Amino acid sequence: MRTVERVGYETLLIETDRGIAKLTINRPEKRNALDSMVRKELIEALDELRDDPELRVLIITGAGDRAFVAGADIGEFATRSTHEQWKMMRGRNLFEEVASFPRPVIAMINGYALGGGCELALACDLRIAGRSARLGQPEVNLGLIPGGGGTQRLPRLIGLGRAMRLIMTGELIDAEEAERIGLVDQVVEDEALESTTRELAERLSAHSPLALQLIKEGVRATMEMPLSAGLRFERELFVRAFGSEDRIEGTEAFLEKRRPEFKGR
Ligand code: COA
Repeated sequence: MRTVERVGYETLLIETDRGIAKLTINRPEKRNALDSMVRKELIEALDELRDDPELRVLIITGAGDRAFVAGADIGEFATRSTHEQWKMMRGRNLFEEVASFPRPVIAMINGYALGGGCELALACDLRIAGRSARLGQPEVNLGLIPGGGGTQRLPRLIGLGRAMRLIMTGELIDAEEAERIGLVDQVVEDEALESTTRELAERLSAHSPLALQLIKEGVRATMEMPLSAGLRFERELFVRAFGSEDRIEGTEAFLEKRRPEFKGR
């Protein structure tokens, strides 16, 4: 195993191993709350990782065993003017950057995923939670509402009624309930979270990166498009996949009864 660490970040740890990057938000003493520095560095890190031609899968998690991300940094709210908040929200949007990242992104939810933390998980493509995880959108307790996609992505994922309930009550749910309602895809024992997530990442990294990217574009388009336009879009994506070297390699490998070696072209 050859792990490469990327340096230069104050609030993030990034390790890459055979095309799988693990990005850890590293403020455990503040339950990995998203302050301005974390947000800025996350966007920079996504830019850096996006440029890595070897990268196949990205895992996002939080440091320590208490929290994935406990939301926006509430301490910063106290000193920020409404105008500053507005300016901040008009800039590049972290959650959009995650959602549109061209590789599969897995949220490895190792504890509290609240507010912006739940929204960060929602922006990922896949969500695996440890049994002790707790999820919710508690902004209402602060006289606030979700601002990182919670009112939009949550109902699309778990349905209107359940999303309304979670956002209006601000209640937290445990990992099993989150799995039952589809907010996470899989719950595992805390000790097995890292290995299960890595196994999934390895499975994905054996697939064509191009096919995965097109799948992501297609599935995400269901959030934006009516069915007829989505079906047209899917056919376009299919033809792009069909024209790829990876499709030729995949079909040849099947016929030659060997494992394919995908290049992402
Ligand atoms: N913003 C800023 N600081 C936060 C934070 C947040 N969202 N969440 C936790 N922290 C800080 C606490 O203030 C505390 O700091 P201190 O040690 O300097 O006092 C530290 O992290 C540990 O938090 P604590 O509450 O003692 O840990 P816990 O494990 O008992 O509880 C939570 C964890 C996540 C349940 C609890 O901290 C919490 O409810 N946080 C706020 C969640 C929230 O409302 N998020 C939405 C924001 S819009």
